[in-house]
Formats: sequence, C-alpha cells, structure tokens
Amino acid sequence: MLNFDFYNPTRILFGKDRLQGIDRYIPADATVLITYGGGSAKKSGLIDKVKAVLGKRKISEFGGIEPNPRYETLIKAVETVQKEKIDFLLAVGGGSVIDGTKFVALASYYKGNSRDLLNYAFKPIPLDVVGKAVPFGTILTLPATGSEMNSGAVISYEHGKFIVISQLAFPRFSILDPTLTFTLPRNQVANGVIDAFVHTMEQYLTYPVGGRLQDHIAEGILQTLIEIGFTTVAEPENYEARANLVWCATLALNGIVGAGVPQDWATHFIGHELTSLFGIDHGQTLAIVLPAVLEIRREQKRAKLLQYAERVWHMGDGGEEEKIDSAIEKTREFFESLGVKTHLSQYGIGADKIPVIIEQLKAHGMTALSETQDLTLDISRKILERAL
Ligand code: NZQ
Ligand code: ZN
Repeated sequence: MLNFDFYNPTRILFGKDRLQGIDRYIPADATVLITYGGGSAKKSGLIDKVKAVLGKRKISEFGGIEPNPRYETLIKAVETVQKEKIDFLLAVGGGSVIDGTKFVALASYYKGNSRDLLNYAFKPIPLDVVGKAVPFGTILTLPATGSEMNSGAVISYEHGKFIVISQLAFPRFSILDPTLTFTLPRNQVANGVIDAFVHTMEQYLTYPVGGRLQDHIAEGILQTLIEIGFTTVAEPENYEARANLVWCATLALNGIVGAGVPQDWATHFIGHELTSLFGIDHGQTLAIVLPAVLEIRREQKRAKLLQYAERVWHMGDGGEEEKIDSAIEKTREFFESLGVKTHLSQYGIGADKIPVIIEQLKAHGMTALSETQDLTLDISRKILERAL
C-alpha cells in the first residue's frame, strides 16, 4: 500500500426528513446565501422548506448556477457575498451547484484575480494563497459526483473545465436525503450511477499495490451499483435502491477508495473535453470513454482487469483474454442497460472531430495521463478512435 494523508471533516446527515439539521449546524446569527441551479429545487418546493427551517436568519438567494458551472456566473455570486456580507453558504442541488458554491466560498476572500484559482489542476490550492473561505453546507439533490463530501470542484471557463481543490472546500455538512432525488429525470439518475461507477474504477482499476481493503471497498461499491443501477433508474421512488445509490456515490469520491492506491483519471480528463466541446453530459462522456480506455490499456491494467472480471463480474472460467474481453463488454452493457449510449458516433461525433479533441487536450496540458503518466496524446487518439 502507498503512503497517504486522509482528511475529511464533512458531517453527513443521511436519510428521510433531515432538513432540521440545517438549523443545528448553521450558526443562529449567520447571514446565509442559498445557492441553487436552474430551478428544479424551486419547483419542487425544496427552497421554501429550507427557508422555513432557516427561520429568522438573514437570507439571500442566488439561483441560475448552470450544469458545468461557469466562472462568469459564479463571479456574480462572489459579488453578492461581498456586498451582503454573507457568512454562510448553503448549496441546494447537484454537483454543479455544490462545485460552484465551493468556488464562491474560496473566491470571496481571495485578494487577487480569482481566475488564478483555476490554475492549480490536481494540486490543492496552498493555504497561503487562499487561507480563508466562507463556510458552507450542502443539500444534495443528485447523487453522482461525491462533491458533497470532498474538497474538489470542476469549474468551466472558456473552452475548458478546471479542477479546483482546497482543504477549505469541504462542506461543513451535507444533507443526503434520498427522497430529494425522486424528482430527477431518468437520464440524470443514469448519469449519476455511471459517474459513481467510473470514480470507483479510476481509483481501483490501475495496478495492484496490496491495498486489499481499498480493493474490497471499491468492489463493494461497483457490485452495489450493478445490483441497484437498473432499478433506481426504472423506479425513481424506490427508496432502498436510491438510498444505496446516494451512499455509493458519496463513498466513491470522498477519499476512502483512493487512499494509498494509484489513481488514473484519464477517462475523466478526456471526458471533460467532450463536455467542453460538444456539451455532452459528464456521465455520458464517461460511458463513452471508459470502455475504450480499458481496451487500449489492457496490458498496463491486466492484473486489475482480471481481478475485476473475477470479483465483480464473477467470471471463473476461460482464459485471460476472454475474461478481460467479457469484463469490458459487461461494463459497456451495464451502461447501456441504463439507457446511456457508449459510442461517440451515437452522439453525432465522427472521426473528423478527433484532431479537435486532441488539440484541446494538448492546450490543457493533458499530455501525460493515467496512473503511470505515460498516456500520451497519441494514446488518447487511439482511445478516441476506439470510442467511435
Ligand atoms: O439546475 P437544476 O434546475 O437544479 O437542474 C439540474 C441540472 O439540470 C438537475 N437536477 C438536479 N437535482 C435535481 C434535478 N432535476 C430534478 N430533480 C432533482 N432533484 O440535474 C441537472 C444536472 O445537474 P448537475 O449538478 O450538473 O449534475 P451532476 O451532479 O452530475 O454534476 C455534474 C458536474 O459535477 C462535476 C462535473 O464535471 C459537472 O460539472 N464533477 C464534480 C466532481 C467533484 N466535485 O468531485 C467530480 C466529478 O467527476 C465531476 O467532474
Ligand atoms: Zn465524475
């Protein structure tokens, strides 16, 4: 097992009827800015319920944080925080609203040009650059990203998606009430299952380092998602299935699975370019890229692919190649069973677009990806060709 630092201070309030937790964990004298997205949380009546629980606290609202939250939008929220002397943020929504709120929390006290905060990539922003952030909590309405219990955000600016990580960007608390996700459209639930699945795979399917517990936790998450994936898409109000999705999605990216093991993230980085260039949903991009990454990287990932075939898909018989082929095929079939297409061409993207995607990867410095940093632009090209 590799050395690791693990730190995670986020309190989780899980289950039905947990909104009262807001009252308990937001200071009574706080001036609160409620942040939300395009209106789903308003329409469902959730924002009104939240306001009722906040009681006499001074409240402002900032709506309109779009999927793949944009820097330009978030900067307006920063102005509101500064003008209205907000001292607590409450994000009500999915990964985009939560990520956007994290950025607002960090940028509100930053003295320089907040665009600089997009330049740290996978490295946490040092505390001497941003030493203070507005505290915030979240009410999760879409299980997918794990943002509710991690310190990362993905912010869109011009034609790129930028990762922002800071020790100050952990939510103080997150309310995970599966019933708040019942209003999600089918495709967003499917995206969520795939995002949680691929987060787990990016930290599991690399090469063995003897992280037995991490492997078993990862395999447990993958198996649970396979068990409940179809049901939770087909039966939106099945509490048990949805509760399992919510908890899987949180655990998939709260640091537990990735502690002490190599991590890949090539699928995510290539996927980010597909969202930036063509507006494909985050979960859909992962369904397109992951099977192709596994095919092209089968030699580098051989030992873990076999372990995945045997332990997650229970393949006992057959030769090594056959098991690996079947495990990759099963993965693709699982994504497709949720109604998500897994080929670029099915999204109207042909071979002519591959050079454009490669140019974007190059422009964003994505030239040495994977757990061994040997995934060059040439290999990314092969992955994209395989994904057609
Ligand atoms: O904006 P509203 O009206 O709320 O509608 C949203 C949005 O249109 C809707 N929605 C959310 N909850 C709903 C609902 N509709 C009905 N009922 C509900 N209960 O769903 C749509 C998508 O929401 P979004 O927040 O964009 O989805 P998701 O949670 O998948 O977040 C995607 C973003 O997270 C980033 C992605 O890059 C993308 O920008 N990621 C963040 C990560 C992190 N912070 O750790 C890791 C991930 O890999 C990911 O990259
Ligand atoms: Zn993701």
